[in-house]
Amino acid sequence: MKIMVIQGPNLNMLGVREQHVYGPMKLEQIHAQMKDFAAQNDTEIEFFQSNLEGELVDKVQECYGEIDGIIINPAAYTHTSIAIRDAIAAVGIPTIEVHISNIHRREEFRKENMVAAVCSSSIVGFGPFGYHLAMVGLLQVMAEVQAQKEQTPKV
Ligand code: DQA
Repeated sequence: MKIMVIQGPNLNMLGVREQHVYGPMKLEQIHAQMKDFAAQNDTEIEFFQSNLEGELVDKVQECYGEIDGIIINPAAYTHTSIAIRDAIAAVGIPTIEVHISNIHRREEFRKENMVAAVCSSSIVGFGPFGYHLAMVGLLQVMAEVQAQKEQTPKV
């Protein structure tokens, strides 16, 4: 099984940006923990971060036929990007959306969410631990998808 982790704009600034909202952990530290957990679960994992919407769309598209599950934090693009939403819908890969902060308890504009409806599930407000929860959830979803494929008779 292969997982792609896609991180949107300004998440490369974790550990520096608004620590009262996002905490002190750096993105590399979050990824190191995810890598360990993936290894313990016999799962391949790749990481991608970009500040550019089109690059995030390209990365989702590249997952088609190559990747079994996506964990995405589209960051600010969550609230605006129909393009990222359409890319997730297009590839049809089980996808879990993560937000470090609880976007429902913040500014009004963060309540708008373009991607949630095309994701298997959303994890918000757990801090960086949300990425761990997303991996646990995604492993379960991927196992269910795999089991369904094995049950479907080949014609
Ligand atoms: C975020 C929440 C977004 O509203 C914000 O623009 C981010 C990070 C989060 O992880 O809490 O950049 O996605």
